[in-house]
Amino acid sequence: MKRVLSGVQPTSEIHLGNYIGAIRRFVDFQDEMDCFFCIVDLHSVTVPQDPKDLHENTLKLAALYMAVGLDPKKVTLFVQSHVPAHTELAWLLQCNTYIGELNRMTQFKDKSQGKETVTTGLYTYPVLMAADILLYDTNYVPVGEDQKQHLELCRDIATRFNNKYGNTFVIPEPLIAKFGARIMSLDDPTSKMSKSNENKHSKINLLDSPSKIKKSIMKAVTDSESQVRYDLENKPGVSNLITIYNILSGISIENIEKKYEGMGYGAFKKDLIDVVVSTLEPIQQKYYDIVESGEVEKVLKEGAEKAREASNKVLNEVKKKMGFVSF
Ligand code: AQP
Repeated sequence: MKRVLSGVQPTSEIHLGNYIGAIRRFVDFQDEMDCFFCIVDLHSVTVPQDPKDLHENTLKLAALYMAVGLDPKKVTLFVQSHVPAHTELAWLLQCNTYIGELNRMTQFKDKSQGKETVTTGLYTYPVLMAADILLYDTNYVPVGEDQKQHLELCRDIATRFNNKYGNTFVIPEPLIAKFGARIMSLDDPTSKMSKSNENKHSKINLLDSPSKIKKSIMKAVTDSESQVRYDLENKPGVSNLITIYNILSGISIENIEKKYEGMGYGAFKKDLIDVVVSTLEPIQQKYYDIVESGEVEKVLKEGAEKAREASNKVLNEVKKKMGFVSF
């Protein structure tokens, strides 16, 4: 059975970009592959986190994973910091990664821009991500487009290690959706929907109320025309809304364009609100049921045990190949 691994940071609320680009797709793999999905809390502290928020967001994300349909009987759900092998392998890989490689990472450049202080953790973040993936003999990594460069680095590090020390790591393949891998911000369709955008109407969070969803969509930037037409270059705002509509409703882009021909943006946005609300309502219902059931802690404890067992094999192999003494 092929193995799949991916993770989401417990930073702030999970938005529609995270859902469409990553989490929603995780569910498709759980019947066919051996899946490991983690809450990458160690990644989240590369930028400042309020300890109380980090704690809450970690448990919230675990419940959301289950609410979107991940079944803990089929997949391993765990918290990254519960498996010490991640940080240990990250160190060993850092000693096999070059500064020049990390200097090229665009996410580091974006996230550090304009900041008074930047942690070394933010700089070495991609190596920890490589460790997350390589520890589990991962074949496939479903991610949004923003993670493509990090995946390429992971493959380079693994290939270099294999060449130097002999075959050790499985070289993972990124699984980036052809469509919807980059959901854009509602207030600025030239930048991706992002947790760190302080404008709450720039995104739709999975636990948003119908009235908040309505406000955010009604405020979403479109253009001075009134034609509902998919044209990424000239109509990025409308195209982003059509993408969300298409993915959540299953209605083809062609049929969406036909449906709203001559009707302007008002009718289109009104229906998009219904599409988003009806997608999120069952997820929210399930989320609150899961929280109430108190099962999250048990699932995460069991997941951590399975993840610790699975990851130790690769870690021990790496240490042996590098010459570390073990008794
Ligand atoms: N806008 C997006 N469209 C499609 N996919 C996206 N992802 C993130 N944003 C979009 C994908 O979601 C997964 C989990 O993301 P993450 O929380 O680990 O990473 P992130 O990029 O830090 O999330 P944000 O929301 O973009 O936070 P900030 O504010 O830090 O920029 C990943 O697979 C990611 O590709």
